[in-house]
Amino acid sequence: MEDIRIGIVGHGFMGHEHENMLTKMEGFRVIGISDLDPKQLKDVKDGIKRYASNEELMQDPEVQVVLIAANNNRHHDLVIQAARAGKDIICEKPVAMNVEELDHMVSVVKECGVRFTVHHQRRLDRDFRIMKEIYDQRQLGEVYTLKNSLYGFNGNMHDWHVYISEGGGMLYDWGVHLLDQVLWMIQGAKVKTVFADLRNIINFEVDDYFKILMKLDNGITAEVELGTYFLTDKMHEKWFERHWIMGGNKGTAYVDGFEPQGKIVRTAHLLKNVDGKRTMTAAGPTRSFGPPAEGTILTEDIPAVSTCHEDYFENYKKAYFGREDFLVKIPETRRVLALMEAVRESARTGESVRFES
Ligand SMILES: NC(=O)c1ccc[n+]([C@@H]2O[C@H](COP(=O)([O-])OP(=O)(O)OC[C@H]3O[C@@H](n4cnc5c(N)ncnc54)[C@H](O)[C@@H]3O)[C@@H](O)[C@H]2O)c1
Repeated sequence: MEDIRIGIVGHGFMGHEHENMLTKMEGFRVIGISDLDPKQLKDVKDGIKRYASNEELMQDPEVQVVLIAANNNRHHDLVIQAARAGKDIICEKPVAMNVEELDHMVSVVKECGVRFTVHHQRRLDRDFRIMKEIYDQRQLGEVYTLKNSLYGFNGNMHDWHVYISEGGGMLYDWGVHLLDQVLWMIQGAKVKTVFADLRNIINFEVDDYFKILMKLDNGITAEVELGTYFLTDKMHEKWFERHWIMGGNKGTAYVDGFEPQGKIVRTAHLLKNVDGKRTMTAAGPTRSFGPPAEGTILTEDIPAVSTCHEDYFENYKKAYFGREDFLVKIPETRRVLALMEAVRESARTGESVRFES
């Protein structure tokens, strides 16, 4: 089978990642790279073209697929330019700044008859895939709650990510992944209402903290929380970095860390009157929150899943040659953008927002 010939637009952090990965993978050939800033092209690998402009990349007949890895506010124009040049497109997330932009992009993509997908590769993160497997296999019975969180230590946000006009802020950065994971995991359910808090704790312009609560019509309440400015002295505790917890009427599952550790936890006497021990607090004892009686807590290993970033492009290859669907479909990315708009509205008004009827 012929290699898929790629042109990369934007040779910053993610452009380099794509160049490194795709030059190592079979089935792809990186033809050339463009960047508005010529300095960014200095370390392009040997054998890959350095274009003087995006236009030159778009007009290169050798390039079949344009992979867009520029700042978020440039995606709209670049997708349209690539579509009009007749190229298939992979765009970095967030695909657009808002739904209106995306709808316009999609209308041009359709008119030009090219293929269009988005790099939501965090659908392949192992922590997420473990939780999805537990959910898909109904290992916890009826699920009533899910939490997906990511905390960072020192408010480290950088470059254009600190400017609203460029599409900065953590909702656009990681929020889009965390929300996409929840929506893609709990498929078939509608998000009825959204309540969100969105703040800039130490950044001047952009959000660096959010908490989002979503009430779904299948009985699940999902929470997504991120903060770049939480602090801890327990660096080794993985839950502080990445944390999932899912509660069902037949058990609880948690997964911590990007290199996931976790358990499925059950009780031998669920819904029976367990003889808890007392926990003494400064202002009195509690029984309900006392430690469980000996032998009532049972644990099971979380499922093993095999998944990695390369799988995103393995799927792309198969989909490109018509053997599979693209992992990431544009209506799914539109739903995430719409949800992000509801998040902003709720944060602005302080009220919960009706989302899907
Ligand atoms: N999927 C992921 O896990 C992931 C991770 C990081 C970043 N991203 C996404 O990748 C994109 C790039 O982010 P980054 O962190 O690599 O930023 P970056 O600042 O490191 O790199 C962006 C590059 O694009 C160039 N650029 C900007 N406008 C351009 C234009 N119109 N034409 C050509 N080049 C242009 C800049 O000069 C810069 O070199 C963003 O959309 C971001 O959200 C995705």
